[in-house]
Amino acid sequence: MAKIAILGFGVVGSGVAEVIRVNGASIAQRLGVEVELKYILDLRDFPDSPYADKLVKDFSIIEEDPEVDVVVETIGGARAALEFTQRALKAGKSVVSSNKELVATHGCELLALARAHNASYRFEASVGGGIPILHPLSQCLTANRISEVRGILNGTTNYILTHMIGTGLSFEEALKEAQERGYAEHDPTADVEGLDACRKICILAALAFGRHVYPDQVPTEGITKVTLADVSYADAARMSIKLLGRAIQQEDGRVMAYVAPHLVRRSNPLAQVDDVFNAITVRGNAIGDVMFYGRGAGKMPTASAVMADVIDVLQHRRTQRFMTWEEGGADYVVSTDTLESQWFLRLKGTIRDLEGLGPVTVLGRPGAPGDEIGVITESMTRGELDRRLKGSAPLSAMRVLDESADLA
Ligand code: HSE
Repeated sequence: MAKIAILGFGVVGSGVAEVIRVNGASIAQRLGVEVELKYILDLRDFPDSPYADKLVKDFSIIEEDPEVDVVVETIGGARAALEFTQRALKAGKSVVSSNKELVATHGCELLALARAHNASYRFEASVGGGIPILHPLSQCLTANRISEVRGILNGTTNYILTHMIGTGLSFEEALKEAQERGYAEHDPTADVEGLDACRKICILAALAFGRHVYPDQVPTEGITKVTLADVSYADAARMSIKLLGRAIQQEDGRVMAYVAPHLVRRSNPLAQVDDVFNAITVRGNAIGDVMFYGRGAGKMPTASAVMADVIDVLQHRRTQRFMTWEEGGADYVVSTDTLESQWFLRLKGTIRDLEGLGPVTVLGRPGAPGDEIGVITESMTRGELDRRLKGSAPLSAMRVLDESADLA
């Protein structure tokens, strides 16, 4: 019998309990032992829950119980979750987490702590919800030199963008629906301002390139400034607007990473990824492009990824496979100043006002006011764009995902 404890009985934590209840028999068959949920730690009371007898409020009960093999951390945030993860690892217990904030900020030190105590720290569920991406990246693709990881990394914003475009919902209505479905963060600002995607691209970059990239090193822009007018211009250009995270390794080994909304050509598979789905493309020098696709958020998909880690840790109790990466550094992450791309611009004015901009493709949209114009520029850096705009601020400016960045 293997015993586990869940920290935090929210959307994901309760999903893990449900996966054990529903799939316990098949998990036991595969694993050769039964998995028993012994404790659930939460500060709240759940008197009517069938799990009420497992609820504890004091972490030391779990920490000091030698029967607990694996601690599942689904608290979120980087305060209590950090302390409990450190204490569990020091007690020699493996920790499985869905907490992207904690991994993105403290992943390197927690992996080292796990190794020092012959325990595992796993976090497949922290990126891409139910999509297996971290395990393939750290195991199956290691024969490659990876040059770029890019993807749609946040289910809530993809749900919002899809429903703004497809069903004409307002931003607020679409966000409310995403919250009701359990996709959004406790504070959805982290979703819509791009911070959640930023944390995920940091984790992907660390695994792909071997050194930690910290969230505050990653320029991050969310979707709050995307308007229905932008969506309409993108549609006219046969493109979709997608919030992308990208991490690109430079020739000298350093990394450029950023999060921003992009216009993506419909011919690119990323443009077809709708609703809560996420997709991550990894470019390796042997494999070419490989794309991972699936439900990026939600109770059961995320719980599925958590339990896969629990099962893997239990299967390898005596032969732990240690995941690791090195600390980052101020000189490791380069700015996006040198990154060239075409730009979508929505501006006030007429075509005559764009003379300094160079060759552009002019876009139309139904109902556009006479003094509004939408264009796609030639490829250039943001600095060059600003120079050519001569100080006039566009209503919107978004990168167009480069053809060369499309799937081959
Ligand atoms: N809020 C996150 C999202 C949850 O919408 O993608 C999954 O990490």
